Amino acid sequence: MNDSLKTIFNRKSLRTFADKDICKEDRKLLLKAAMRAPTAGNLMSYTIIDVKDQGTKEILAETCDNQPMIAKAPMVLIFLADMQRLYDYFEYSGVPDLCKKTGTSYAKPREGDFLLAANDAIVAAENVVIAAESLGLGSCYIGDIIENFETHRDLLKLPRWTFPVTMLIIGHPKQKKSGSMTTRFPTEFIVHENSYRRLSGQDFDRMFHDTREHFGNAPYIKNAENLGQHIYLRKFSSDFMIEMRRSFKAGMKVWLEE
Ligand SMILES: Cc1cc2nc3c(=O)[nH]c(=O)nc-3n(C[C@H](O)[C@H](O)[C@H](O)COP(=O)(O)O)c2cc1C
Repeated sequence: MNDSLKTIFNRKSLRTFADKDICKEDRKLLLKAAMRAPTAGNLMSYTIIDVKDQGTKEILAETCDNQPMIAKAPMVLIFLADMQRLYDYFEYSGVPDLCKKTGTSYAKPREGDFLLAANDAIVAAENVVIAAESLGLGSCYIGDIIENFETHRDLLKLPRWTFPVTMLIIGHPKQKKSGSMTTRFPTEFIVHENSYRRLSGQDFDRMFHDTREHFGNAPYIKNAENLGQHIYLRKFSSDFMIEMRRSFKAGMKVWLEE
């Protein structure tokens, strides 16, 4: 295996950081790696907020579903889907006047623009994950940045056509990597040839086999009789998912207002 593949295959999420800062050169490299990621139309429709202020990290540790490790991470990067910058440029370039002159309506960012910008942001984030790993650092995504839209908007001064799609916490590992890697579902259930294939009950039994083994004899959450019910109750009907859905809808309402 070459070094790039080794980096990919040995990566694990890191949630406990050594009490050691990330040097200036590595910080610069991580941000440069983000910016070398592929980007739709080469327009970089994302913004990275490099959160250096400890007070802000501490607020995020609470607002992102109470995850104290956020406040302890030397580097916290928030990736925004960002169509605001491009639309500010369109204003600056007189695009609205051009539309008036040509009798065409001025097209504002809609759902599809959000999705493309979100793709840009997430692709850039993953470059940071791999670059961090290659530098002997570790990272963890924080999906809960999607929660509490209004609080994050005010905290980070986010304009209308931006939305925080993901966050990374990065730092040095406390100790040498040990323990097993997390499981993954078998390829046949994730990669379909040519067209989509709905899975059968038998497929699901095989698909979740390793997850069940990994679970061992740990008890399911209250009222759950099997793993599927456990996953649904623990995650998909949990308070943080309910908040995530509400928050995203509120963010999109602002984005899509006429
Ligand atoms: C979109 C996304 C959101 C995530 N959010 C969190 C999070 O809020 N907190 C956390 O501890 N881990 C989070 N993770 C990390 C996953 O839990 C982790 O990737 C998964 O358990 C597999 O473990 P591994 O990365 O070590 O292989 C997130 C990962 C992704 C891709």
